[in-house]
Amino acid sequence: ELRRIPHPPYRLPLLGDLVGASRTTPLQDSLRYARRLGPVFRRRAFGKEFVFVWGAGLVADLADEARFAKHVGLGIANLRPVVGDGLFTAYNHEPNWQLAHDVLAPAFSREAMAAYHPMMLDAAARLTDHWDRAAGAGHEVDVPGDMTKLTLETIARTGFGHDFGSFERTRQHPFVSAMVGTLTHAQRLNTVPAPALALLRGARRRNEADIARLHRTVDDLVRARRASGGGAGDLLDRMLETGHPDTGEKLSDQNVRRQVITFLVAGHETTSGALSFALHHLARHPDVAARARAEVDRVWGDGVPGYDQVARLRYVRRVLDESLRLWPTAPAYAREARGDTVLAGEHPMRRGAWALVLTPMLHRDPAVWGADAERFDPDRFDARAVRARPPHVFKPFGTGARACIGRQFALHEATLVLGLLLRRYDLVDDPAYRLRVTERLTLMPEGLLLRLERRTPGP
Ligand code: HEM
Repeated sequence: ELRRIPHPPYRLPLLGDLVGASRTTPLQDSLRYARRLGPVFRRRAFGKEFVFVWGAGLVADLADEARFAKHVGLGIANLRPVVGDGLFTAYNHEPNWQLAHDVLAPAFSREAMAAYHPMMLDAAARLTDHWDRAAGAGHEVDVPGDMTKLTLETIARTGFGHDFGSFERTRQHPFVSAMVGTLTHAQRLNTVPAPALALLRGARRRNEADIARLHRTVDDLVRARRASGGGAGDLLDRMLETGHPDTGEKLSDQNVRRQVITFLVAGHETTSGALSFALHHLARHPDVAARARAEVDRVWGDGVPGYDQVARLRYVRRVLDESLRLWPTAPAYAREARGDTVLAGEHPMRRGAWALVLTPMLHRDPAVWGADAERFDPDRFDARAVRARPPHVFKPFGTGARACIGRQFALHEATLVLGLLLRRYDLVDDPAYRLRVTERLTLMPEGLLLRLERRTPGP
């Protein structure tokens, strides 16, 4: 079945296509292969064979939910010791997926989101306090570091009524270091050939300590909530108290623990990367920043933006979409065949066979995005341009039943924060900065510092 799928020419018996393979940037290596090998290719790396797909037609076919479904493999399966059958890592057949999905989906309704809005503003105010001080002192700000603090504070407050105090601490919160530790470990497990795993005993022990730390943090949160008799109707209240709309069944204590960690992690890592890339592009493209800023001034004036005013920042939203096109911060998702089938009428797949969709390449397919696909241009997302494109060509949030449940949450938060930052600061680009992308399952611009100039003294 694989015979027709191209692969790199030099194959080493044990190591596979290791020439040019790096343990720290497996995704970017795959992008390089993709450019050479075309819309579907396979790659042996680290003792495993992977099939990658990025051509728009092939990806659209993989979106057919009747024939394909999410595949839980690779980095995701490596997270199961931490989050088990939590929403993100559950196998399709596990009953807790449907149960948690149905119980938690209303937590992302319009109504629920409107209730989170003031909490998001509160977290953003911590960021701007911090950035005001930096701007006043003429210091550069650490964009990815500060965006991670912001998004962690946002999900902790809106989800669990908790304040990690990220901006007030000098060192990373232990929960964050534990989380980064488990993500890095999960990625490393992918890139280490099985025989070498035995050598990782020390790393495994550290990982177990990280997991214990995550569990402890969450158990404290849950205990405090139970003792206080309920919060402000946030995600945790819903997890603890809401039954399934039809059966009334509730999530078990063990499952609640898994969901809390899932949301704390999934709810901030990717959004933080998305905001960081967007700020990089805004700093590098002053014309785009000026247009976006003019929109914020026009739509918001200088008052505190209300919930409904966020979605009205159409151009800011396009900046975000265009950033997620070039660097979708969750850069791949896996699809498996539900039964024997033929992908796009060309590639036979047996039941259970799977392929990785390489989103950054899908988002650069010249057949869809044109010869200038590498160029940053938010106008690609104006309504007319979007209508002219076929479906399934822009997939930063995955696809189908297992697509991102937090999509609206992330878009609201990120648009709100970009609006607030554009209104408040001029972003000064450092022309010497070359974009480098770090990988720890998610993507982040490495070492991105920006200088800020305070624009208005307003709110
Ligand atoms: C699933 C991307 C923000 C919670 C996913 C998937 C992608 C994704 C690609 C599908 C993964 C797969 O098919 O294996 C993103 C991006 C975000 C973002 C790019 C920000 C820009 C969020 C936020 C939350 C969240 C803010 C929670 C508040 C989840 C959960 C799942 C998921 C729970 C699993 C859903 C399921 O399988 O039922 N996300 N996400 N994400 N995301 Fe997000």
